[in-house]
Amino acid sequence: MGNKFYITTAIDYVNGAPHVGHAYEKILADVLARWNRLNKIDTFFLTGTDENAQKNSQAAKEAGIETKEFVDKNTEVFVKLCNYLDLSNDDFIKTTEPRHVKVAQSIFKKIFDKGEIYKKKYSGLYCEGCEAFLTERDLVDGKCPEHNKKPKIIEEENYFFKLSKYEKEILKLVSSKNFIVPEGFRKEIVNRIKSDGLKDISVSRPGMDWGIDTPIDKEHKIYVWIDALSNYISALGYPNDKKFKKYWPADIHVVGKGINWFHSVIWPAILMSAEIELPKKILVHGYLTFNGKKISKSLGNAIDPTALVKKYSVDPLRYTLVKDIPFNQDGDFSENSLKERVNNELANDLGNLVSRTLTLCEKYFDGILDKQEDDGLLKKLNLNKIEKYFSKYELHHALEEIWKFVRESNKYVNDKEPWKNEDDRKKVLYNLLESLRVISIFISPFMPETSERINNQLGVGIGLLEDIKFGWHGKYNVKKEGVLFKKLE
Ligand code: ME8
Ligand code: MG
Repeated sequence: MGNKFYITTAIDYVNGAPHVGHAYEKILADVLARWNRLNKIDTFFLTGTDENAQKNSQAAKEAGIETKEFVDKNTEVFVKLCNYLDLSNDDFIKTTEPRHVKVAQSIFKKIFDKGEIYKKKYSGLYCEGCEAFLTERDLVDGKCPEHNKKPKIIEEENYFFKLSKYEKEILKLVSSKNFIVPEGFRKEIVNRIKSDGLKDISVSRPGMDWGIDTPIDKEHKIYVWIDALSNYISALGYPNDKKFKKYWPADIHVVGKGINWFHSVIWPAILMSAEIELPKKILVHGYLTFNGKKISKSLGNAIDPTALVKKYSVDPLRYTLVKDIPFNQDGDFSENSLKERVNNELANDLGNLVSRTLTLCEKYFDGILDKQEDDGLLKKLNLNKIEKYFSKYELHHALEEIWKFVRESNKYVNDKEPWKNEDDRKKVLYNLLESLRVISIFISPFMPETSERINNQLGVGIGLLEDIKFGWHGKYNVKKEGVLFKKLE
């Protein structure tokens, strides 16, 4: 790993409130950002909102509110969501901000000046949900499968970007196994390029009253992707800001599978044309489903993540989302699963371990324990395996591996019975405190609040990966404070 790490999420449309699928994506990115910080890597984590989209202005019209006011109000909900989800994002970009508008226009201009944006008359199938022209091949039963809607036939004069020029280079790029992960999503892109090739794409729309003006023609707004995608560099202050120089290229763009193509094909081509370095990786995740159907604003089955946080608190939600949805697949979200995980993995396994260890420390030693001999408990933790899972983005497996150690630690208490065995009581409890300290470090990317609560009870500060050594904390002065997780009905 290098010494900097720049990770982004997609920027969300603000035509409606965020749903739990948006929350999932942000949490994934946050876990990876926090993991890198644990490794002492200088990390920048960006998220934000896609405000210029036509569908935002349509939703505003339907709500009878002026678009700017509507967008501002909705974006506020996404900003607050970051707080509710305990995200460690370093910035939040809104694409109506002048710092973004100026960059989107300059990228457009750069490509135009190079002769790679040209005007032509066009007729095509337009899906309002995707904000994209689709091909017959994209449709299922004549409808857009993402939004379950028939596309409209639109004929107009547009500016086009010469995407076709970059076919060979893009095919080469996506043929590298490192660029798009997981592999299944990489293959989809490779196959699509091989079978259909790359066609030029429309990058402007005429006669719109919302969006960023193209820098070359007042009648046209920049249409979607040159605008939305360039948030990843405008937020860093492209081209001159030291943040841009330090953090670009992005190490990871985290995106849902529905926008893989835009990030793996169109974005690199835009960057090639504008002569900007390419991102290193597109990390694609599946969709959260609810009773097997994609959760979506457009489909009207959205689940409000803020309500879930209020009901269950943030860490159970973070934990369940990571654990229930393997990266390379869709996964069904259910409150029942969340409750079961809280009761078993969080309250029984982790909560109990913390509670019994601290209770015993207070009962027999007033909470004060100095360094004792290593009893071998910490050796049962498979650090290499956890690191390997992180490096493969198999976060649910990383959690499983951490939980193996939580269970080992519980077994250790049961076997050693420190409430009975006075002789090695102090040694056993010190070994347990050291494993709690280490568990707290490992869970911090997933459940930062819980990690902090454990640290507070142990009387230690925030740990780093390099602190994972037996005996690193010499003298404990612990103080038990209530239960970590209440059991749910
Ligand atoms: O696509 N489960 O915005 P968006 C998991 N503005 N992820 C989901 C999901 C679900 N049920 N539904 C959506 C856009 N997502 C554009 C992106 S980026 C320069 C522009 C994911 O609000 C979706 O795949 O429709 C995307 O990654 C993100 O949420 C925002 O979706
Ligand atoms: Mg969408």
